[in-house]
Amino acid sequence: MKRTHLFVVGVCLLSSCRAEEGLNFPTYDGKDRVVSLTEKNFKQVLKKYDLLCLYYHEPVSSDKIAQKQFQLKEIVLELVAQVLEHKDIGFVMVDAKKEAKLAKRLGFHEEGSLYVLKGERTIEFDGEFAADVLVEFLLDLIEDPVEIINSKLEVQAFERIEDQIKLIGFFKTEDSEYYKAFEEAAQHFQPYIKFFATFDKGVAKKLSLKMNEVDFYEPFMDEPIAIPDKPYTEEELVEFVKDHQRPTLRRLRPEDMFETWEDDLNGIHIVAFAEKSDPDGYEFLEILKQVARDNTDNPDLSIVWIDPDDFPLLVAYWEKTFKIDLFKPQIGVVNVTDADSVWMEIPGDDDLPTAEELEEWIEDVLSGKISTEDDDNEDDDDDDDEDGEDDGDDDSDEEDDDASDDDDDDE
Ligand SMILES: *[C@@H]1O[C@H](CO)[C@@H](O)[C@H](O)[C@H]1NC(C)=O
Repeated sequence: MKRTHLFVVGVCLLSSCRAEEGLNFPTYDGKDRVVSLTEKNFKQVLKKYDLLCLYYHEPVSSDKIAQKQFQLKEIVLELVAQVLEHKDIGFVMVDAKKEAKLAKRLGFHEEGSLYVLKGERTIEFDGEFAADVLVEFLLDLIEDPVEIINSKLEVQAFERIEDQIKLIGFFKTEDSEYYKAFEEAAQHFQPYIKFFATFDKGVAKKLSLKMNEVDFYEPFMDEPIAIPDKPYTEEELVEFVKDHQRPTLRRLRPEDMFETWEDDLNGIHIVAFAEKSDPDGYEFLEILKQVARDNTDNPDLSIVWIDPDDFPLLVAYWEKTFKIDLFKPQIGVVNVTDADSVWMEIPGDDDLPTAEELEEWIEDVLSGKISTEDDDNEDDDDDDDEDGEDDGDDDSDEEDDDASDDDDDDE
């Protein structure tokens, strides 16, 4: 179980750049590693690499800003290609207009998407387009799809993973046909869902696994579900995971944040912000877990937990869009069509809601008693000028900020 290092596009102020070794962030060396894919070079490029990473983009327009945005993405890809140069991964651009036929053949449909070809599989990357996130994603993708657990200590590490779906199976040997089916199934979900296996009786006993049995762990739940009717075929495993892929409480992750967000519940998400490394955030998260455990059988409930620490670039945007303070825990309902939202009243840090209060509030949301549309008639007028999203530093923002301008007197 590894943590991947962070690679970012580093900016180094000349005066503060000291020549100490050991923490050299890679800077782009200017070499072109990302090539344009065409009908002509397609076969040759594909043959050359184990993994091919393709950025499917709209034609570069003559608009200056669009050009700069495109260049920035290109530089991110170049840096990723440079960092992973020794890994046998190819990086290409596919122009949606010039290479329309090729894109169609590859099954690409969404411009601006990043796809990875690995053997027969096409994996869509649905996460944050940032060098560190991409590097971690690709490194996870070139690893074996199943991680083997051999010792009690590794069991502890396995048990500690609580914020994502995981599966573990017990098999006789690596050559077992049931292990092979498990391995094939794992490839459908790599790198988003972690598959583990053991061939060790002691480990299996510790995890109460019978021979050829696979246990499925929902995030934040104490007990796993044993997948019924062992032994399983690849298809049975894939189907089970697909049916159970939406947990009661799920953490928004940079590597698949868009996929998670697109998986809304009738146009809304129940969103909880809690910073795990902050005492109040931690406490709030524990309460959320309790609520999730009590309601794990409710298929209509899936709370998206966001730790603001995972998304530093989005914090200001969220605070502005949702009109909330992210220095404290929050829970609310967000309409994914227009980002309209309502948030639970949480009076103060020492006054977090109890699990019962939270459950009541969630029930009101699910029954429609609390809805993002409630306040729309009352203050329609005020809202109107904010509906033109993102026009930046217009007057209405200034007014928001000035609401707290009493503080200025301190200076
Ligand atoms: C979300 O917002 C859209 C557009 O304002 C609205 O038509 C829709 O009914 C809302 N959905 C819910 C579930 O409130």
